[in-house]
Amino acid sequence: MSSAPSNSAAFGATAPDAPSEETLTRHGAPAFPDPAMIARLANAFFQASPQASSSESPATLSPGAPIVPPMQPEAPAPSIVTSVAPYAPARAPVGPPDVPPTTIPSIAPTPNLSAPSAPVGLQPAVPPYGLSDVPQPGASAGAFEPGSPSAAAIDYSAIPNTLAQYGGAAPVQAPAPYGGYDPDSVPGGVKAAPVDNLYFLHERAPAVAPGSVPADPSLSLVDRYDADVAPAPATPDAAPESFAYSGPSEADPHRVSDAFALGTPNVAMPEISGQERSFAPGAAGPAATDSLYFLDRAGAVPATPKTAPQEPQGYAPQLSASAPASRAAFDPYAVKRDFPILQQQVHGKPLVWLDNAATTQKPQAVIDRLAHFYEYENSNIHRAAHALAARSTDAYEAAREKVRRFLKAPSVKDIIFVRGATEAINLVAQAWGRRNVQAGDEIVVSWLEHHANIVPWQQLCAEKGARLRVAPVDDRGQIILEEYEKLLNPKTRIVSVTQVSNALGTVTPVREITAMAHRHGARVLIDGAQSVSHMPVDVQSIGCDFFVFSGHKVFGPTGIGVVYGTDEVLADMPPWQGGGNMIADVTFEKTIYQGPPERFEAGTGNIADAVGLGAALDYVESIGMEIIARYEHDLLVYATEKMRMVPGLTFIGTAAEKASVLSFVLDGHRTEEVGKALDREGIAVRAGHHCAQPILRRFGLEATVRPSLAFYNTCADVDALVAALLRLQSGRAGFL
Ligand code: ALA
Repeated sequence: MSSAPSNSAAFGATAPDAPSEETLTRHGAPAFPDPAMIARLANAFFQASPQASSSESPATLSPGAPIVPPMQPEAPAPSIVTSVAPYAPARAPVGPPDVPPTTIPSIAPTPNLSAPSAPVGLQPAVPPYGLSDVPQPGASAGAFEPGSPSAAAIDYSAIPNTLAQYGGAAPVQAPAPYGGYDPDSVPGGVKAAPVDNLYFLHERAPAVAPGSVPADPSLSLVDRYDADVAPAPATPDAAPESFAYSGPSEADPHRVSDAFALGTPNVAMPEISGQERSFAPGAAGPAATDSLYFLDRAGAVPATPKTAPQEPQGYAPQLSASAPASRAAFDPYAVKRDFPILQQQVHGKPLVWLDNAATTQKPQAVIDRLAHFYEYENSNIHRAAHALAARSTDAYEAAREKVRRFLKAPSVKDIIFVRGATEAINLVAQAWGRRNVQAGDEIVVSWLEHHANIVPWQQLCAEKGARLRVAPVDDRGQIILEEYEKLLNPKTRIVSVTQVSNALGTVTPVREITAMAHRHGARVLIDGAQSVSHMPVDVQSIGCDFFVFSGHKVFGPTGIGVVYGTDEVLADMPPWQGGGNMIADVTFEKTIYQGPPERFEAGTGNIADAVGLGAALDYVESIGMEIIARYEHDLLVYATEKMRMVPGLTFIGTAAEKASVLSFVLDGHRTEEVGKALDREGIAVRAGHHCAQPILRRFGLEATVRPSLAFYNTCADVDALVAALLRLQSGRAGFL
C-alpha cells in the first residue's frame, strides 16, 4: 500500500504494531481482519480528534486498509434531542441529623464505619419496645369477620408433652443433628438437599482471612445477617397421590373449603372459558403477520399504539383457575392443585409454603404459558417482519395491556416493564429523581420500608445533597399520619411508601398519604410489591404518580416487574438507560428517544416473563382479587388466633389493617432455629431481617420469623405451622 486516505490518519497514531501489508496479503483473507487490530483501530477512531489527526504525518499511518469507514471529519459533538438535565456534581449531603430518628444521614460519609454489632440473643429480656401496651392479636377487623373457627379443628391432645406439662415453662432442647432424610425411604418423597446444607446463609458471612480470629462464635449468622430459610432445591418428582390435601376428608374439616369454614362469603367462581390448553403446532398461530404495526415507528415521531393488541385467540393456553364449573365458592384446596410445586413433599412432609412475601409459587397456567411462548412464539419484539416477531410482540404488548387492566391504569403507555420492584424504584429515583431533586430538597419514606425503597433514595440524596426524612410508626407498626404530615413542606419532592409492609404486614393508608403529599406539591410512589397479590389495586383511585411491583410476588415469573407512571410524570422523565428499542432515531450526532413506555425499556427485555406475568394476572383475575382479599383476610385472622395459643410467641406488627404477614419471635429460640425446625416439618417461612432492618430495629430486633400467606394457603397449613411451633416449644419436635 503506497498511500492511505488522509482521513484515516488517526489510525496510525495508536496502531504502531498493526500487521504489515505483507502479513495481511501473504496469508490471504483469513489473516484479516485481525480482531486486535480492529479494536486498536476502532479505539483510535474514537479517541483522536479530527483536528489533531489531520496534522499527523502520513508516514505514521498503518499500512492496513481502514476497517472503519471514513469518518466525517467535522462531525459535531453528539447531542440528545430529548435533553437530560446535567447531573449536579456530587457534593456532601446536607441532611443534618438534627431530628433523629426521623432523619437518616446520607450513606456517603459512612463507608468506613463498621456495621453495628447485633445483640447476641435475639429475644429481648422484656417484650419488644412498645409491645407491652399492644393488644394481641391485631389482625384487621374488616367487614368480613370469619365465623369463629373452632379450636377443636386442631386436636392438641394428640401432641405429646404440651407446654402445660411444663407449667408453661418451655424447656429448650437443642434438636439433634439432622442429616437429612433418605428420599428413597419415603414413598413419593422428593430428593432434597440435607437440611444442614443451607450454604447460602453462610455465604453472607464476611470473609475471614486465613489465620485471623473469627467473629464471636456464639453469634449465629442470623444475628448478623439475613437468613432466608427456604426449602432446599428439590426435584418435583413426587407422585401426585402423595399430596396430602388431595380431597375432602371427614377427619379434616378444612378440606372441603376453608372459605366456607372461615365464613368467607360464597362467591360464584367465574365460568371457565371454553379455551383449552392447546399445544399442537397447528394451533400455535398464526399471529397477524400482516399487522406488523410495531415496524411502523421508524420515523422521528414515536408511534405507540393507543391500546395494546389483545392476545390472539386460538393459540393462547387456558389461563383460568382450573376450578370445576360446578364449584359454588372459592375453594383454596382446588386452587392449590393448580400449583404443581405445592404437591410435593419436603423432608418427607407435605410442603407448606408460607414464604409468600419472599416469592409466590406459579400456577400451571403460568408454567404452560412460558413453555408455550418458547415453543411457538419466541422472537425478539418490535424488530422484524416475520411471523414469530409478530407473535411475540403481540404477546408482550398483550401482557402490557393485562397489567394496565390489573392496575386499572388509564393507558398502556403508562406501563413500563422492568426487572422487578427494586429496579422500578431505582429507575424512578435515577430518571425522575436526578431531574427533579436538587440540593436542599427532601424525600419522604416511612419507617416500614424495604431496603429497596430506602437505598435508592439515599443514593439520590447523597448525589444531590438532598435530605431523606422518615415518617415514624407507632408501636403496632402503623404510620403515624399526623407525624408524616409534619414532614411535608414545599421542599418535599417525592413521598415513596409501601402499600403493605413486607416485615410486619401493615397495610398503609395510601390514598391519604398520597392526598397529603399532593397538597404539598410532592410526587408519590407506592411500592406495591407486597400488596398486589393480596388486594385489588386501582392506581387512579389511589391517585399516585408512580406504582411499582414485582411479577414474582403475584404468581408470575422472577425477573419481571412494572413501573406505572402517570402520563404527566412519564412525559417529562428522561430515560435511565440508553440502547436499542428506546430510540426513534440515532446518528452519531444526535439521538431521538421514543415516548413512554419504550423510552424506559432499553435493550431486549424479559419478553417471555412479561408474557408469563400477563398469564399470572389472568389467573388471579379469573378468581377475583376481591375474593382473594376476603379469603386471605379471614385466613389471617384465623392464623393470628391460632398462633396466639403458642406459648412464648410474640407478634411483631399488630396493625389494625394487615395483609398476609405474621412476623413473630419465640421465647427461647433464635429465629434461624425456628426457621430450620419448621423446614424439617416441610414448612417454609423466612427467618431473618427481611431486607427491612430499620423497622425491625424500631422494635428492638434484628430478625423475626415470618410466615406469610397467599390464597392457596389453607387452615390446614396454619394448623401444621401451629402444631410444629407447639412441638418446638414442648421440646418434643417430631423429628427427634
Ligand atoms: N422482599 C422479599 C421479602 O420480603 C424478598 O422477603
